[in-house]
Amino acid sequence: MKRSKIAGIGYYVPERIVTNNELTAVMDTTDEWIQERTGILERRYGKKHQETTSSMGAAATRIACERAGIAPEEIDFIIFATLSPDYYFPGCGVLLQRELGITHKEVGALDVRNQCSGFVYALSIADQFVKTGMYKNVLVVGSEMHSMGLDFSTRGRNVTVIFGDGAGAVIIQPTDDPHRGILTSKLHSNGTYAEKLAFINPGSHGGYHFKKLGEEVDFGYPPDDTYGEIFLTPKMKDEGLYYPNMEGQFVFKMAVQKFPEVIHEALNEAGLKPSDINMLIPHQANLRISQFVQKILGLRDDQVWNNIQKFGNTTAASVPIALCEAYEAGRVKEGDLVCLAAFGSGFTWASALIRW
Ligand SMILES: CC(C)(COP(=O)(O)OP(=O)(O)OC[C@H]1O[C@@H](n2cnc3c(N)ncnc32)[C@H](O)[C@@H]1OP(=O)(O)O)[C@@H](O)C(=O)NCCC(=O)NCCS
Repeated sequence: MKRSKIAGIGYYVPERIVTNNELTAVMDTTDEWIQERTGILERRYGKKHQETTSSMGAAATRIACERAGIAPEEIDFIIFATLSPDYYFPGCGVLLQRELGITHKEVGALDVRNQCSGFVYALSIADQFVKTGMYKNVLVVGSEMHSMGLDFSTRGRNVTVIFGDGAGAVIIQPTDDPHRGILTSKLHSNGTYAEKLAFINPGSHGGYHFKKLGEEVDFGYPPDDTYGEIFLTPKMKDEGLYYPNMEGQFVFKMAVQKFPEVIHEALNEAGLKPSDINMLIPHQANLRISQFVQKILGLRDDQVWNNIQKFGNTTAASVPIALCEAYEAGRVKEGDLVCLAAFGSGFTWASALIRW
């Protein structure tokens, strides 16, 4: 079997910088609180009505294609990871295809809904398609337009201050070089704590999971025999029950356990150790999480890439944006061992080892 390699990479972040101080104007928070707990100084927000998750993904794709030396028309398959799609359906994959003007070839497009681990999952899917010889140029995109769906009142401050917008993209191609490419990827999930970090409304759940968990939550549903207004009830709108929610400390504890676990798993399989890693690209969830993971693995500062300070948490986009930045800075070079790792809602978590 062939190996897959990243042949081209690109990222796009919107121009508009939103500082912590700007957020203090609309909610009860402080620059000190945000910096101390998360490491974030600023994030980017897309232009309303002018940019979307798929359009930002297309911008990152154009750069990735150029660096891979291919035209967008040469893409054989599209995998798009996001939790903030333009539409509930259809997915962003087809919208990006249209945005790039490559609908004539009618190649397949797949959306991955794995939140923060979405890009690493999508990369692994692309790897399977490419190494089996099914496709030659697979596009993998992670993109998020969080700013359109956050609660900018004090009620949503624990979530809203963390997230930012942006996109990253890679072109995956086969390589005959047995020493290069994606060495392995490890994918995991555990749905036990699905609601601990979730965006549950609008949705078709009708309170089902909460009832099973023994928590009766009033979502304002109409009487049992009435259909309609299940997805989004007036109460949900009135009380802001259609925003993401997160039990921050619980998520933090799981993340610092799962990140090292899944990185070790990949390293063990490849017969490598943490000190062999030239660059760890952790999902940019929280600077404190990355610092904890770095310490546990015994890595130096120059072995870990952090950019959450500038971009916040961009969920499925955070790994490809950070990888691309490290690449552009000359910190990911041919022959380097790169480790990608992510953890997030679901919970889902994943890692990948790449010999660049
Ligand atoms: C979200 C997170 C930064 C919160 O930090 P924390 O130290 O756990 O803070 P807590 O949630 O315990 O809240 C502490 C206090 O700060 C308050 N607070 C929450 N958000 C705030 C904000 N933006 N500004 C000011 N105060 C805030 C809380 O209301 C709470 O106040 P109280 O003590 O009066 O009740 C942290 O838990 C975290 O990063 N968790 C992981 C999140 C993550 O990685 N998510 C993405 C996963 S992919």
